[in-house]
Amino acid sequence: MRIVIINGTVVTADQTIEADVLIEDQKVVAIGAAGSHNWLEGASQVIDARGKYVVPGGVDVHTHFELPFGGTFVSDNFETGTRAAAFGGTTTVVDFAVQVKGETIRAGYETWMRKAEGNCAIDYGFHMIVGDVNDSSLKEMAAIVDEGVTSFKLFMAYPGVLYSDDGEIFRAMQQAANDGTTIMMHAENGIAIDVLREQAVQRGETDPKYHSITRPPSTESEAVHRAITLAELAGAPVYIVHMSAKEAVAELTHARDRGLNVFGETCPQYLHLSVEDHVSLPGFEGAKYVCSTPIRFAGEGHQEYLWNALTRGDLQVVSTDHACFFYDDDEKLGRQKRLGEGNFTLIPNGLPGVEERFNVMYQSGVVSGRFDINRWVDLIATGPAKMFGLYPRKGTIAVGSDADIVIYDPQASFTYSAPDTIHGNIDYTAYEGMEINAKIDQVLSRGKTIIDGGRYVGSKGDGSYLKRGMNQMLI
Ligand code: URP
Ligand code: ZN
Ligand code: ZN
Repeated sequence: MRIVIINGTVVTADQTIEADVLIEDQKVVAIGAAGSHNWLEGASQVIDARGKYVVPGGVDVHTHFELPFGGTFVSDNFETGTRAAAFGGTTTVVDFAVQVKGETIRAGYETWMRKAEGNCAIDYGFHMIVGDVNDSSLKEMAAIVDEGVTSFKLFMAYPGVLYSDDGEIFRAMQQAANDGTTIMMHAENGIAIDVLREQAVQRGETDPKYHSITRPPSTESEAVHRAITLAELAGAPVYIVHMSAKEAVAELTHARDRGLNVFGETCPQYLHLSVEDHVSLPGFEGAKYVCSTPIRFAGEGHQEYLWNALTRGDLQVVSTDHACFFYDDDEKLGRQKRLGEGNFTLIPNGLPGVEERFNVMYQSGVVSGRFDINRWVDLIATGPAKMFGLYPRKGTIAVGSDADIVIYDPQASFTYSAPDTIHGNIDYTAYEGMEINAKIDQVLSRGKTIIDGGRYVGSKGDGSYLKRGMNQMLI
């Protein structure tokens, strides 16, 4: 199969060039100026990208498909979730396999393999949530690297569920330092938060907005500080997931300025949604936006701080933390967000985003002039691929890279509106009404067109498992 993309503007994290792209055997094999080659001879497919951007497929390194959580299951499984990702220009996901208490890391990995294998529209890898730190799971952290699992998430939140105490976290960090792997941290002081939640419910403060109010910024920044302190002591790299508070990002920046291997991601929901406009909506509507870390008060200035951190490089990745639950009861999954009607502590945490990230970040980042198109590519594709050992196979357009490519039309536009312009197994979008001044024309996954003119033309099982290498962002 010889595929040629002609007349397009190729955009990577480093450059923007007018060039044609030659694809053979699922890989990019040449990039060259129009007229300088004879690639069209014998081509099986020619894509004319005149007036369009040719960009790397998105890499979303924080998704949760088919995760049991909050008394129910995340509504997207690997089939529906990866298809939604493909519609939104994302061609690689790294999901979280879970080691539950009393079980092994190997068992968690195999369970997640079974969920994903043969079901994915795009390529996928796994991080491992370590839910039970003990002598044998520490050994298993080293062994699972052979399967391409090189990053491990720990929780300072959710006591009694996925929570690890400081000793457990420190031991896991020492193990990661030994193995060259990366610790991912859900940094919130879950013990203090649980006290605040209980007290709020006792006072009758049960609306969704109290989810945000009982997880104030200091509960995030304190945990980030503690995570960094423990990581420095252990000599391990730490990557803080889903950062939302400016005080927390300031902790990260301070540590990076000291030359530590600490990294951070934020997600589109923290850059666009607020307690004032979303979580405080009348009735129960705010439950749609309940996630942890929480959506913050716009009036406190978190959003502009996060945008600046992305522009400056203090945050390196935009992922989604896609963990969606139906707002209204679903025929198959039953009650989801509404489990928490009358008690915000029972609202399943998380929201959808795997489909919207690529477009929403282009609109609010590039079209709004916050950063250039190369930084956008870096944040949604190249940076995440480097952070989690997938570069340059994923996250760029270069000779030898997988031909994961999006043909992106900056002349077209559309508006997010559920159910018409979303494709996951979910009944709302967090970006309802948002206009996007661009449109995905085509998505190629390893050279195969899987989205064409807004239609899914791939098949379940196209996606392959990715064995990942080590963090490539270490200093
Ligand atoms: O609200 C969230 N973030 N749900 C998913 C689980 C997690 O903590 O990442
Ligand atoms: Zn988390
Ligand atoms: Zn998550």
